[in-house]
Parts: sequence; structure tokens; C-alpha cells
Amino acid sequence: MAPSAPTPYPVPRMTATRARAERYVVHGGAVLRGTVRISGAKNAALAFMCASLLTDDDLILTNVPDIRDAWSLSQLLVALGATVERLDANTFRLSGRGVSTYEAPSELITENRASFQVMGPMLARHGYASSVPPGGDVIGQRPIDVHLSGFEAMGATVTREGEHYVARAPNGPGSLRGARIFLDYPSVSGTQNVMMAATLAKGHTTIVNAATEPEVQQLAHLLNAMGARISGIGNQILEIDGVESLHGTEFRVMPDRIEAGTYAIAAAMTGGDVRLEDAPADVMDALWMKLTAAGVQVEREAPNIVRVAREGRLRAVSFQALPYPGLATDLHAPMAALLTQAHGVSIIHERVFDNRMLYVGELRKMGAEIVSTGSSAIVSGPTPLHGARVRALDVRAGAAVMLAALVAQGTTVIDEIHHLDRGYERLDAKLRALGVDVERTA
Ligand code: UD1
Repeated sequence: MAPSAPTPYPVPRMTATRARAERYVVHGGAVLRGTVRISGAKNAALAFMCASLLTDDDLILTNVPDIRDAWSLSQLLVALGATVERLDANTFRLSGRGVSTYEAPSELITENRASFQVMGPMLARHGYASSVPPGGDVIGQRPIDVHLSGFEAMGATVTREGEHYVARAPNGPGSLRGARIFLDYPSVSGTQNVMMAATLAKGHTTIVNAATEPEVQQLAHLLNAMGARISGIGNQILEIDGVESLHGTEFRVMPDRIEAGTYAIAAAMTGGDVRLEDAPADVMDALWMKLTAAGVQVEREAPNIVRVAREGRLRAVSFQALPYPGLATDLHAPMAALLTQAHGVSIIHERVFDNRMLYVGELRKMGAEIVSTGSSAIVSGPTPLHGARVRALDVRAGAAVMLAALVAQGTTVIDEIHHLDRGYERLDAKLRALGVDVERTA
């Protein structure tokens, strides 16, 4: 395994056991005021890190969020033999130089969903890739058929060998062939995985029914900056002309629309007044529309600065969680927490995942009136919430209980906060700066 160079900012070792034993203790009642700077987008950064495997040159990524999923993916890349250096808390220098094994270690792959995106680059460059199914939140069936059938369409053979999926290119390294590929579902990571593989395939690839999420678009822009030839970016049909090789570049990770949305909801929920700095406001229309309909003031002060405030009462709004540009499924649970404080009945339909409802039971422990039926939830409000001992059951369910804790009377203790660490950089510090009484304790 190629050692990664020493760095003054080592990638934190995963301290799962410690994080699992830690909790947030939140004293409710704060009205959030001030400015919060939004971190880099988790889902963009993780895909970008996987893209580093496509070249031996240096890929410098700035604005990488300092989150657990980035640490675990770094460790996975290092385990493959790749070079990963952390130049400062949010800057990585990565390279596929030194990759010496094509088998992703199971314990790191199962840490997060994005890890499976090492498969496409490895298969394209080295002609072989092997991995167990990815991990990530338990938010329903998370199949990988879209990824695998995309690889197969490009000539790869995919077999199940024990726990592993093993993909082999037809004639070794660099032998994937461009193809016309229809994705059965516009999967975000599936589109990214297949798109990365196609950049180095021979000939032309068309991906039909591609995901259009901003993070997918950004990955395509990064790949083009590395020498790929992708057009149709942002459309459901992507056209890719394969190239011989990709080169290094420097690229800034876009800000995180889900983190920005979470703080916007926090401001709205507490009747506060918060300025979101470096928020990707242009890709958050669905949320702005729903918040406005709920009686929240949303003001664009500058292209990437949004002020979110509320004085009057919250009104119930119904919504569906949909692929982009619909309201993001990752904001479903945070929005549900908000709607416990809205006057009236809100109906939520989850259209992306089949088990996004883990938060419902936790919010009910705090006094929320929510019933869920399959992929729908009905929220009646406003209900006074009270502190309770609750769990962050996944990263966004965790955000929902944190939001509820902000307005709950008394003290809320949130367990299993390693889930929140996966996606929120310095959550407690950012909330404290906005006036929240929150401590992280062992
Ligand atoms: C990504 C995001 C996650 C977000 C989700 C939807 C990352 C690391 N995570 O997850 O935060 O909530 O997009 O915006 O980027 N599906 C299939 N076959 C497949 C793959 C997926 O049917 O091969 C289905 C899933 O069952 C699910 C839906 O597609 O119902 C969405 O999944 P997908 O877009 O793949 O989400 P992820 O990429 O896992």
C-alpha cells in the first residue's frame, strides 16, 4: 500500500466507538440569530474524492466538508493504495497514483453509500473492481442495479463472488466500451459511477434518465476540468466522449444545499433571523417556495447569501420529496420537524426512498403529532414539544430531532450522533454561534 504523505492536518481516524457513546444535550428555547457559513456539499465532495482514482495526477479539492463520511472515504482510498493528503481542514490533495489493490475493504465500504463510487473509476482504469454492497443510512431499499447494469452495458462482466460484486472490463485496463445506457431510475450515485467509468471508455456513451442533482452536475464539471468530454450537463441525457486519460486540476466543492436547508429550517422553526453565507441559493428553489408558503421570509441578499427569518405564525404546507429539482428527500425529515410547529395539517409524500420515516417515532417521543402510513406522513400542528431522550437514527432523522430540540421545552438528549457527524460539519459549534445551548458530551 502506498503511504500517504505526512500532513499537519491528518485525516481523523474513525472513532466509531467513541462517537457512538457521545450525545448532544440541547436546552430548548433559543431564537436563532446571526450568520452561519455553509460548508462544502457532502454528496459532491465524496464523488469528487472517488474521481481522483481516474488519474495519477494531483486533484486538489477545496471546501471539502470536515465530516465523518469524508474521513471514512479517505481511509478507503488510502487502503486502495491511492494518495490522500489533507493540506488543511478543508483541502485535500488526492491522486490515483499507487493504487495497488482493486478490492475495496468491506469495513470501509459499508461506512457510507458514496464509497461504492470507487467501482466505476477502478473498473475503467484498471479493468477490475471488487466491493461489497455499500453502506449508508438505512432509509429503505438501496439497490445498486443501476450502477451494475451501466457497467455491463459498457462491456463489463459483473459477478457476485461471496459478499462481493466483482466487475471485470472485457479486455483488461481501459477496455470499457461506450454505450447507450438507460438508467432504470435516475440514481444519484448510479449516474455518477457510470459517468465516471464512461469518461475513460472507448467511444461515445449516452446516459438516458440521468440524475440531474446539482452534485451530479458539479461532478461532470470537475471531470471536464480533468479532461473529460461530457455534454448535456444538468439534463436527463448525458453525452460522453471517452478520452485516453484524465489529468489533475484544482476544484472547489460547491456548498451543501442540505446543510443550508437545515439551518434555514432552524431559523424558521425558532422564529429567528439567520443569514446563510455561501449558500447555494440557486439550487434550492423548492425549499424557498415551501418556506415562503409556510409564512417564512426568505430574502436573497446576494447570489450566495440568504436571510431566513420569521415573525408571524407558521402555516401548514404539504410537499413531496422528489428527485431534483423537487424538494430534496434529505430535507424531508427536517421539514417534518418544522411542520410540527405549523398551524394546520401538513401532508408529506416521500417519493425517493421507501423508509425515510425513521424520524417519526423519535419526534413523537417529543410530543409531535405525526402519523406515517407507508411513504406518507401527516403532521398536525402546532404541538408543544418537550425534551426527551431520542436517537439520531440516520443523518437526516438526526437533523430532525436536533431541530425539534431547539423548540422543545426542557432538555433533549440525542444519542447515536455519529450519524450527524456523517453529514454536518461542526454542528454544535455552528448552532452555539447562533445562540443555541447545546453541548456534546461523552
Ligand atoms: C444520494 C445521496 C443521498 C440522497 C440521494 C437522493 C450520496 C452519497 N447520497 O444517495 O444523500 O438522499 O442521493 O437524492 O450522494 N435506486 C435503484 N437502483 C440503484 C440505485 C438506486 O433503484 O441502483 C433507487 C433507490 O432505491 C432509491 C432511489 O433510487 O429509491 C434513490 O437512490 P439514489 O439516487 O441512488 O441515492 P444515493 O445515490 O444512494
